[in-house]
Amino acid sequence: MRISLTDRCNYACYYCKPDIAKHLCHSDILTYEQLLDICRCAVLLGITRFKITGGEPTLRKGYIGFIRRLKELDGVEQVTLTTNGSLFSFSDLDELKKIGIDCINFSIDTLDESEYLKICKMNNLEKVLLNLEYAYKIGIAVKVNCVVDNLFSFSRFESMLELIQDKKIALRFIELMPLKNSDRNTKMDELIEYVQKNYTLNAYDEKLGNGPAHYYKITDYQGYIGFIEALHNKFCQDCNRIRLSSVGQLKLCLFHMDGVDLKPYLDNLSELEKVMREWIFKKPKEHHFEKENSSTVMNEIGG
Ligand code: 5AD
Repeated sequence: MRISLTDRCNYACYYCKPDIAKHLCHSDILTYEQLLDICRCAVLLGITRFKITGGEPTLRKGYIGFIRRLKELDGVEQVTLTTNGSLFSFSDLDELKKIGIDCINFSIDTLDESEYLKICKMNNLEKVLLNLEYAYKIGIAVKVNCVVDNLFSFSRFESMLELIQDKKIALRFIELMPLKNSDRNTKMDELIEYVQKNYTLNAYDEKLGNGPAHYYKITDYQGYIGFIEALHNKFCQDCNRIRLSSVGQLKLCLFHMDGVDLKPYLDNLSELEKVMREWIFKKPKEHHFEKENSSTVMNEIGG
């Protein structure tokens, strides 16, 4: 289960473009206590792995304490975090390590400062990279998410490889999905063709998480590269994700708009568990990104 702690973000990446005027109201956001109740029900339903996401989850006050409490819940096997990585202090990362965070996914689309600024409208690539370096150094498992859009270039790919030169990091190239504010075009096909032609890819069968990425090792690199192709290599049949928005909407697919508001059930946990179970069985068979954009707004559901 992916849990969005907030729809707010300190970035404004062009493919996400949060509509600031339509930010969710603070008073509607579930408290950590309410989120933990939903997680308790999730565990009873057999959900043991949680991803904390946003907006930008590290913007929300107290998020580390929430992760600690989630890690301590009986039956929880794994808690990971997806972030732009810009707001950590080193002591935050020390604390996350101490409470046993299982992985941090840093979203980094380029290693070129001016390109980074263009994509994210923020100028703090250097700080993000220092945080990534530090997280890795203290032994936190690290992954990097890189969105492949229509402007993606092979030279960007080559430079991103620097991240895995001497670090056992999983570098994942994610095909741009046509959500509400994203366009449809991506160079994913061309990228894969280019990489296959120019590198010797050794399929890496060991599982590096719960996601749909296929991983490869490249000779002379310590890390791994992975490709996540929601369009050209649809993985709906293997998708076991459910998603919880920060206001308590349980969503079953990034593409489909239907979901259930869990708020009315929060004061009766057995009812809550029942409703969650009913809705999980309604998970749609597949998305239809290949035909149309989804009306889902990325910053409300966090990928
Ligand atoms: N398509 C693919 N990936 C996206 N992300 C955000 N928007 C999109 C999109 N339209 C990525 C973010 C983050 C991850 C959760 O999803 O960059 O790394």
